[in-house]
Amino acid sequence: MCGIVGYVGSNLAYPILIDGLKKLEYRGYDSAGVALHTGNALEVYKKEGKVAALEDFVYGKNIQATVGIGHTRWATHGVPSDRNAHPHYSNSGNIAMIHNGIIENYAQLKSELQQKGYTFASDTDSEVLLNFIEDIKINNDCSLEEAVRVALKRVVGAYVILLIDKDLPDTIIAARKGSPLVIGIGNNAHYLGSDASPMLAYTKEVVYINDYELAIVRPDELILKNLGNERITPFVQKLDIELAAIEKGGYDHFMLKEIFEQPQTIFDSLRGRLDAEHQHITLSGVDKIKEKLIHANRVIIVACGTSWHAGLLAEYVIEELCRINVEVEYASEFRYRNPIITDKDVIIAVSQSGETADTLVAIENAKKQGATIFGLVNVVGSSIARMSDAGAYTHAGPEIGVASTKAFTAQLALLYLIALKVAYEKQTIDQTLFNKLLGDLAKVPQYVQDILEEQDAAIQEIARKYADANDFLYLGRGFNFPIALEGALKLKEVSYIHAEGYPAAEMKHGPIALVDENLPVVFVATKDSYHEKIVSNIQEIKARKGQVIAVVSQGDNVVAGLADDVMVVPQIHEIIAPILSVVPLQLLSYYIGINRGLDVDKPRNLAKSVTVE
Ligand code: F6R
Repeated sequence: MCGIVGYVGSNLAYPILIDGLKKLEYRGYDSAGVALHTGNALEVYKKEGKVAALEDFVYGKNIQATVGIGHTRWATHGVPSDRNAHPHYSNSGNIAMIHNGIIENYAQLKSELQQKGYTFASDTDSEVLLNFIEDIKINNDCSLEEAVRVALKRVVGAYVILLIDKDLPDTIIAARKGSPLVIGIGNNAHYLGSDASPMLAYTKEVVYINDYELAIVRPDELILKNLGNERITPFVQKLDIELAAIEKGGYDHFMLKEIFEQPQTIFDSLRGRLDAEHQHITLSGVDKIKEKLIHANRVIIVACGTSWHAGLLAEYVIEELCRINVEVEYASEFRYRNPIITDKDVIIAVSQSGETADTLVAIENAKKQGATIFGLVNVVGSSIARMSDAGAYTHAGPEIGVASTKAFTAQLALLYLIALKVAYEKQTIDQTLFNKLLGDLAKVPQYVQDILEEQDAAIQEIARKYADANDFLYLGRGFNFPIALEGALKLKEVSYIHAEGYPAAEMKHGPIALVDENLPVVFVATKDSYHEKIVSNIQEIKARKGQVIAVVSQGDNVVAGLADDVMVVPQIHEIIAPILSVVPLQLLSYYIGINRGLDVDKPRNLAKSVTVE
């Protein structure tokens, strides 16, 4: 939520900041703004809407500054508007600040400041924090750095803040707790960002800032301190991402590019780990906590949104193959409901961004109670990855489209590997099934490629036919139930059509009342142990004149004969089949969104990385 960028160096800051904001726009696009230090003055430009609106606003202005900060906002406190856009000026006008996060005790701080005569130009919690810092600076007659340190000791909440001060023409002060901050080291320059994408064009050397750290950043100097004012040696890491990975590469949208990247990204998440020929799985993260996993009382999977759907499928798979009790928890509920956790529990945190606030706090709490934490994360070096006792990266590469696609299938690929490895070590799977599943998993990248090549045109047709529907129902049973949920979520996100996912049999307990000739019902109906039952469910919908769109296995003439429209996927073992079934549903959502003329990469109200509760 909210993207932040900063630059100190000898080049013009504004173009670098704008370019960085465009790369971070997936984190929020309610407003955008920049603050520049011209050497003797601060200049702030900000505008409601996307970064393009800011660019239009600034067009023609001659901004001569080599230091600046920029922000793209996902609104929390205060509606999207010019006045609530960041950066904010302090009351004196001497400091400008951007903030990503939430200041929970802002109301109290605000009333204290108001009593002292401070006024506020916005409704944001961020402006309160800025003036709180300024107040300390004035009262204590101290440096900005010292004032930030003092202020942050009283602040409750999550933040990354970047500040520039009229009296410090070559400096950005930055601090973090709970929201991500990366600093790139350039040639006599430093780049700051919520992730590394804004700096990829300039440097591969980065420092991930930790919670409660404060950075004083100048062109030739990066000083890192803790809140106790002790120096910390920055840990410089080399980035392993190419610029091309964060560009559209000829596709109309990131979402489409990412859907079509899946043969490669699934392959990447299996690469070096799955050896189907020699029936072996290498996962050092699992080896590290192998005994814990084998003897676990429970595996608790915590996640949100699409990652939660991956966790739900993993529950079915791990229970089936490993005979371990699994619970899947919404991180936001889990963190607040005082769950009973022991040192015999293993928590698997599933997260694309590795920064989701609820997931992060949920594992923090579980860790305190003695559980072992395994992080299954896409973004390398992210907070969840760093907090975990062990883990594995999904290797899907940067996911820019706000609706998650390739990260989901990479999560599934990795969760399959984990389940299979633990089942093998625990001897709860026989060698024949183990070999079969490994073999089928290895075929997935090619099968996804086949689906994309063979079904794309048909799915575009189906999307055109149903693009004006008001509601959709998604139904699936067993291993395909989580895919029904994911299909419905994807459609909601990018088309704004109301869609619900249900277990197919549960439909009779209520949702069937919705069915009439106007309701498209998507069945995830690949050939599996429940096939006859799902055929009956399709009949029940048809008997009530519902329109059936079905994901079917190649050669399944029964469902194909009943459905109004079909999307065909290759036949594969039923445990592995869901990773194929989701691909046509991703395409369907994408094309329906496009038919409705929507910005599928940046759906309204959403942000990619939910770093606030
Ligand atoms: C849906 C989507 C979200 C995320 C959720 C968790 O397309 O992207 O539902 O899955 O916000 O995010 P991560 O996986 O980053 O923890």
